[in-house]
Amino acid sequence: MTQEPIPLARPDIGVREEELVFDAVSSERLALGPRMAQFETALAAWLEAGHVSAVSSGTAGLHLAIRAAGVERGDDVVTTPFSFVASANCLLYEDATPVFCDIDRRSLNIDPEAAAAAVGDKTSGLLPVHIFGYPADMPALERLAQQRGLWIVEDACEALGAVHADGAVVGARDNLSVFGFYPNKQLTTGEGGALVSPSPELKERIDSERNQGRAPDMGWLDHDRLGFNYRLDELSCALGLAQLERLDELLEARARAAALYAQALPGIEGLELPCPDEGGDVRGWFVFVVQLPRGADRDAAIVGLRERGVQSKPYLPAIHLMSFYRERFGHRPGEFPVCEDVAARSVALPFFPAMTEGQVARVAEALTQVLRG
Ligand SMILES: Cc1ncc(COP(=O)(O)O)c(C=O)c1O
Repeated sequence: MTQEPIPLARPDIGVREEELVFDAVSSERLALGPRMAQFETALAAWLEAGHVSAVSSGTAGLHLAIRAAGVERGDDVVTTPFSFVASANCLLYEDATPVFCDIDRRSLNIDPEAAAAAVGDKTSGLLPVHIFGYPADMPALERLAQQRGLWIVEDACEALGAVHADGAVVGARDNLSVFGFYPNKQLTTGEGGALVSPSPELKERIDSERNQGRAPDMGWLDHDRLGFNYRLDELSCALGLAQLERLDELLEARARAAALYAQALPGIEGLELPCPDEGGDVRGWFVFVVQLPRGADRDAAIVGLRERGVQSKPYLPAIHLMSFYRERFGHRPGEFPVCEDVAARSVALPFFPAMTEGQVARVAEALTQVLRG
């Protein structure tokens, strides 16, 4: 009997989501209705952060965030090459240059010492990413920003539910921070994202730029600044509201799936698992990414897993080595050795809240078999 393939990710959509989305459709207010503000208020309450703007994607949120931070054409911004490409791309939208620096081998986040070394005369800001939901070392980066007069935008797209050692929830420090709600995320709105601002003035600017440059007190078709259509529609907000009601439960389910993997996998020699929480930092579980033993054939392993009904993928490629970035900026292998080593060995395994012990055992068994060769 062939078993059902185990998908890489699967959103957890329940009856409550169906109810609220159905209500939204039935209300006939499909955009610019009341649910966007309700979603923002509910997310702000969950984060215990003051000023949330719902946007149409994490990428849209990053774009608005760097503009609100004050990025200017020709600026350099120090960021990590080990991320989803959107964290670097958003800088190019404003004709700024991503200046990459290497990552910390344990957390896989930007290494604060490498970041300090990468700051130069043209650097205006820092754009750290909380990769795979593990908190970046914000206290160190905030010290650097203060010493060098830099702005900070946090890419928290993968990190809903993460907490820093100093007790601050990721995304709720005094920096502009961005969450993403794509279907593989801890909370989904389909496409979607949210931007957390440290002040009501910044939220006002962001809300206007998300809506074609229209201030809240202005009439229809009246616009006093450049803006975009980065609004989140009412159906997505309804989905987000229902997911928020269950967010603690969804996060716990992800942490439980990660704990099952941690029990099932340590027997494989040379395999590196996601770093455990350390020093008070708490991961908001997003993906379960392992680094294969040195010398293992990753492509063959992924094919072998697929043949055994287990989806997996290389995750993440180094941004500076993508063809577009090589051509545009002349990047070459060898510039960021830790990132390149990790990127060459990383594989995302199936990971979602409803994963069962049996599915985790099947993945572990399949991985053991393919690595044995
Ligand atoms: C680290 C990171 N940054 C940015 C994004 C962009 O978010 P979106 O796909 O919602 O535009 C993602 C989402 O996949 C991400 O993982």
